[in-house]
Amino acid sequence: MVNIDLTGCDSFVKKEQFNEYVNKALAAQKVLQEESGAGNDFLGWQHLPSSIGKAELDDCLSVVDRWLEREIDLVVVIGIGGSYLGAKAAIEALSHTFACQLGSHGPKVVFAGENLSEDYTAELLDLLRVRNPACVVISKSGTTTEPAVAFRLVKSYLEQTYGKKEACERIVAITDKARGALKSLANQEGYKTFVIEDNIGGRFSVLTPVGLVPIALAGFDIAAMVRGAQDAEKALFAASGENPAVRYAAMRNLLYDDGKKVELFASFHPKLQYLGEWLKQLFGESEGKDGKGIFPASVIFTTDLHSMGQYIQEGERMLFETVITIDNAQREVTIPSDEQNLDGLNYLAGKHVEHCNRMAQLGTKMAHIDGGVPNIDIHVEKLDEYNLGCLFYFFEKVCGISAYVLGVNPFNQPGVEAYKKNMFKLLEKPGY
Ligand code: PA5
Repeated sequence: MVNIDLTGCDSFVKKEQFNEYVNKALAAQKVLQEESGAGNDFLGWQHLPSSIGKAELDDCLSVVDRWLEREIDLVVVIGIGGSYLGAKAAIEALSHTFACQLGSHGPKVVFAGENLSEDYTAELLDLLRVRNPACVVISKSGTTTEPAVAFRLVKSYLEQTYGKKEACERIVAITDKARGALKSLANQEGYKTFVIEDNIGGRFSVLTPVGLVPIALAGFDIAAMVRGAQDAEKALFAASGENPAVRYAAMRNLLYDDGKKVELFASFHPKLQYLGEWLKQLFGESEGKDGKGIFPASVIFTTDLHSMGQYIQEGERMLFETVITIDNAQREVTIPSDEQNLDGLNYLAGKHVEHCNRMAQLGTKMAHIDGGVPNIDIHVEKLDEYNLGCLFYFFEKVCGISAYVLGVNPFNQPGVEAYKKNMFKLLEKPGY
């Protein structure tokens, strides 16, 4: 389960002030759970984990079996924003860092349709040519340009290489149940299809087939992930000032109102880099509207202490830091002793690398608090499917509560349309 430590904010906020914000967060939680607030037609994610049963999991896993039979060794997941970030975050977090170089078997999942770079696309096609590929295309609206362009290219490659019938066996579409170009195309071609329910927005969809199918294809235990999310769902419905989602939502709003306009998501684990990207989308797209909102940023420590550390310590004081801590490493590596000790490191001999990481984390926390950066610590026991499921649900819940405290509708994204209109006009799309 997810735990929260707010002691790193003690020197920045008064207890009475915090209690006032806890009450605001409890009121917002009530509105969210009674489904009476803005955007309440997009609350399908709230009870989603408990609605997932064996049949839903088996349906996702059927794609794994189907492609195992075909000895598929590359799965291209096509999607952008909420249609890829959750899967990417989970796969990166759970994979061996050097899986590619180790040549470990099982289908390798790669992502496309999240950019419009020609070089990226050409290199993806290079990869398809030397592998036995399949493709999962994900778009709720079914009309987003970036994934549509990538899918047209991948589809055309598969059809030319394997013929239309076999290409159809190698394509899975995840989209709306009725609307959008992708839905009509999938119906017409007869692709295996999963539905994204109307009441679940993109950035809240990681626990639907949008996330679960790619994560299962990468070889991870989606049942355990869903169990984690189910436990989080149960725990976080509690209308209590001790509820960690309520406390976190209260603290981030209090800090924001006190001038801390940027939330820096930090982790001391490079595998969590894409969790940072997922968090940026979840909070940025949900809260950044009506001229308000905490600006989400992310860093990986200790790496970024050597690039962003100076700013965090001494730059403009508009930051607070939310650190995602993993309590236990999965592996152990001990630093050896060296007779000559030319590098002067023998004081660390016999210690685990993770011990050094922890001391770096503690030292960083103390320094940043001294430098005027409040610190929130979110921690889970270990980095596995169960705990990632807990984290995904936890942050979704915090986001819903927090945005209601802020006074915005977390479930729309009107601002995303602005660039599209200009791009379509420049591309001479009919009607623009
Ligand atoms: O959170 C959201 O709704 C967005 O980020 C969408 O996921 C993103 O724009 C992709 O949209 P679609 O799945 O319709 O292609």
